[in-house]
Amino acid sequence: MLKVRHLIEPTDFTIKELEDLFSLADLIIKNPKKYSRICDGKILVTLFYEPSTRTRFSFEAAMMRLGGNILGFSDPNSSSTAKGENILDTIRIVSGYADIAVMRHPIEGGPKAASLYSKIPVINAGDGGHQHPTQTLTDLYTIRSKFGRLDNLKIGICGDLKYGRTTHSLVKAMSRYENNSFVFISPEELKMPKYICDGLDRQREGQYKEYRTIEEAIGEVDILYMTRVQRERFADLDEYERVKDSCILTVDKMKLAPEHMIVLHPLPRVNEIHPDVDEDKRACYFEQAENGMYVRMSLLMHLLDLTGDFYNGKVFAVNDHMTSVIEMDTCKNPKCITNHEPALRQRFNSFGDGTKVCDYCGAVL
Ligand code: CP
Repeated sequence: MLKVRHLIEPTDFTIKELEDLFSLADLIIKNPKKYSRICDGKILVTLFYEPSTRTRFSFEAAMMRLGGNILGFSDPNSSSTAKGENILDTIRIVSGYADIAVMRHPIEGGPKAASLYSKIPVINAGDGGHQHPTQTLTDLYTIRSKFGRLDNLKIGICGDLKYGRTTHSLVKAMSRYENNSFVFISPEELKMPKYICDGLDRQREGQYKEYRTIEEAIGEVDILYMTRVQRERFADLDEYERVKDSCILTVDKMKLAPEHMIVLHPLPRVNEIHPDVDEDKRACYFEQAENGMYVRMSLLMHLLDLTGDFYNGKVFAVNDHMTSVIEMDTCKNPKCITNHEPALRQRFNSFGDGTKVCDYCGAVL
């Protein structure tokens, strides 16, 4: 067995490991020169099957600032994907060329599937409307730097909660900390998916509530996490036109917010935050994007085992698709990778109440 860990879900690291990761990011910001050769000879491969500015560039900048090298593609049509190669073969090949891989894929569970066939760490850089764990690391790091803690916070999450992978990951990650609660703000059509709400209900009753407008929620939250309504996720573009401007943050609405509140956004934005809000000292989204590079530097160092204690002697199995979670059931989510890659075996996780959840896309069976 090889020594390899992946980051596929925002909860793949323990709270202690996350704190170590954030502490190293603090040190990197204070003394970047100290880390500028630490990835000498290492190669990061970026496999982006969907467009990106922040995630891809910040990963590439992170590796370059650590003294390593990069290769990859930002358009799958420039790779053998255009000839019909699947992601399972692609990752098998590039894991012989590089030391660590970052994958963004439009199909839910794509990076998870790739990780099962990889000899090197795979980082999920966003899989369809499912999860975006490295954005969440960025979000948590920014919240920690602003509040000095990650617990006892009320988080308003606004916009496209149905398809917004950053919102799903943020809820999963922040609900692990003591006494956090959530306010979901969206039109009915873009509500938080049931599997996320069920997960919160399983943890603690009354951990979230739902509003339709920013005005109803903004006075009671510590963090307002805005998101874009994602045109590219809609099968019906008339529906997109109907809902796209449902929730817009303006200077007038900011007058209803507490002084200590911060506004975050994974970006890119379209028009859900009026540009005049950028001048408000509570608008932290550009700082949040910059933090992403330092957090990803720390993440690369951890997954490449360059911090001394992250693996801690533990050995993690490669190709653990041979384990006992395999089921004969089929995932019903048409956007799940198992319905696009016939070679994949189905995997489900069971909960105490009998619920079975697809290990790739999180859909309830
Ligand atoms: N936040 C985020 O994922 O941005 P990009 O799509 O530009 O990578």
